[in-house]
Amino acid sequence: MCGIVGYIGSRDAFPILIKGLKRLEYRGYDSAGVALLSESNHLNVYKVKGKVSGLEESVQKEDISGTIGIAHTRWATHGEPSKINAHPHVSASGKLALIHNGIIENYNVLKERLQQKGYSFTSSTDTEVLVQLIDYMKESGKLDLLTAVRLALREVVGAYALAIIDYTNPDEVIVARKSSPLVIGIGENEFFIASDATPIVEYTDKVVYLEDEDIAILKRGEPLKVIDFSNEELNLEVQTIELNLGQLEKGGYPHFMLKEIFEQPDCLRDCMRGRLRVEENEVILSAVMDHKDKLLEAKRIIIVACGTSWHAALIGRQLIEHYCRIPVQVEYASEFRYSNPVVGGGDIVISISQSGETADTLAAVELARQRGAFIYGICNAVGSSIPRNTHTGSYIHVGPEIGVASTKAFTGQVTVLAMLALTLAKVKGTVKPEELQEILKEFETIPEKMKKALETNEQIASLSKTFTYASNFIYLGRGYNYPVALEGALKLKEISYIHAEGYPAAEMKHGPIALIDTEMPVVVIATHNSLYEKLLSNVQEIKARKGKVIALVSEGDETISKIADYCIELPKTVEALDPLITTIPLQLMAYHIAVCKGKDVDQPRNLAKSVTVE
Ligand code: M6R
Repeated sequence: MCGIVGYIGSRDAFPILIKGLKRLEYRGYDSAGVALLSESNHLNVYKVKGKVSGLEESVQKEDISGTIGIAHTRWATHGEPSKINAHPHVSASGKLALIHNGIIENYNVLKERLQQKGYSFTSSTDTEVLVQLIDYMKESGKLDLLTAVRLALREVVGAYALAIIDYTNPDEVIVARKSSPLVIGIGENEFFIASDATPIVEYTDKVVYLEDEDIAILKRGEPLKVIDFSNEELNLEVQTIELNLGQLEKGGYPHFMLKEIFEQPDCLRDCMRGRLRVEENEVILSAVMDHKDKLLEAKRIIIVACGTSWHAALIGRQLIEHYCRIPVQVEYASEFRYSNPVVGGGDIVISISQSGETADTLAAVELARQRGAFIYGICNAVGSSIPRNTHTGSYIHVGPEIGVASTKAFTGQVTVLAMLALTLAKVKGTVKPEELQEILKEFETIPEKMKKALETNEQIASLSKTFTYASNFIYLGRGYNYPVALEGALKLKEISYIHAEGYPAAEMKHGPIALIDTEMPVVVIATHNSLYEKLLSNVQEIKARKGKVIALVSEGDETISKIADYCIELPKTVEALDPLITTIPLQLMAYHIAVCKGKDVDQPRNLAKSVTVE
């Protein structure tokens, strides 16, 4: 994973780099480092184990001058998190410093070759091999940096977004990408480099997204130039980005996660805007309308995704099957890509990803595309790799999600999936006008109902204190709320480090019921829907074994609320949209339990927001 930032221009590079790293810390935060070419033309490299704030503190007495520099925040792949393994890595000649996001798969072979040439290595990273390879090419062939990078990358197998500087040429940064994202911001006589646009938006809205095997030359006083591996100059597509700086700040909330939970009503309004047309009794997702013939021909749909996006996919399956009567298969992208899947022409593959950069999801998309499937992307990050590598798609438009635990992206994904199902169902004639009108009217009220659900925040904050003792949790749901149970459990696991299992409620009796004792908190999603009576029996089974039941019920519930130990009342909605409401208290509960336990909510251990390695 990792976040990379770079700058060349006339301003002091260091503050720009540090600010940029902080914006990218969601990508990894186990170590950080910076390399600057100082005013006196020294290559100064500073690194720490830990977060960017630690790096900032550690350089207070150091020379941080310079108008050219590169910086990195790491999520370890090769080599433990440590100062030595932190980037930038410096070459044996002492001239080059390099930052890298990705994995060099053939690093062992390259390392042995370089060792035979007399190179030695101090870190356990694949990145150090890369910088030494470039150094070797440059020094042994007496090449300029650009040519050395170009020739070295021809020998590299793997993924990279990299930036490299050379203290013998303080007017140039070379960057390159393959399978890891890289954006270049173009300012007035200055360039910015970053893993995504968030560190750049403060300075310019003009950006170029590099494509695979692009190498870019950022030179003072010269326009941006991009070449391919055979040294052919490529045309540049300069894009204008619309990112609001306010969206990237905490806005008075203690954590991004809480801010993002509370933003959901507004986010969903943005997501539905212009698409939901209740009076006309229609939903228009333009990508569906533009490709309706392809979608109508589909014999089946396969959805590929990871993590929270995979949970949204499970809800999407129910929505599409119910409203469109098309069979849907949901696959973990990581499994799909290696399963020699039966997929090809006539199949529609929907890929769901918040970041648009998840390596497994991208690989699944690529495989399905090679085999002839039509690919539809559902994504949040505008301009990221998924939207650029799919035939068509829809953005969820919920704004940047910074907290590592996904919240508003999940409800945005479910909203888009519901709109997709309803758009297609209307075209296909598989939904009656009255049924469509009913759900559309309800859809419109969801943001307000979410606001009501958010009013449970204080109740949940106080209830959460009771459960900090727990080392296990069970989450149960059925139908549309079974994926919500999985998502609730994932949220708790990732930020509070409490083991949690999501389960279909009726499956309890086939095994997990053995886990129930007086210590076991069981969250049951038991809002009023067609399976309510069944859930009532499930709750009784747990109570009979003295489990502690925390039930999510609909307002006015008089049955389960009497049996459960704790009850959270939520506004009623139609079954298909219930996940948009029931998810909220589970996000809040995970948040408050993690806060009570003193955990780092926005940057939980071992995780990163964007999983760009497999
Ligand atoms: O960016 P993506 O939606 O492709 O990310 C997929 C997962 O890595 C992500 O949902 C992860 O599970 C979250 N941390 C969950 O909160």
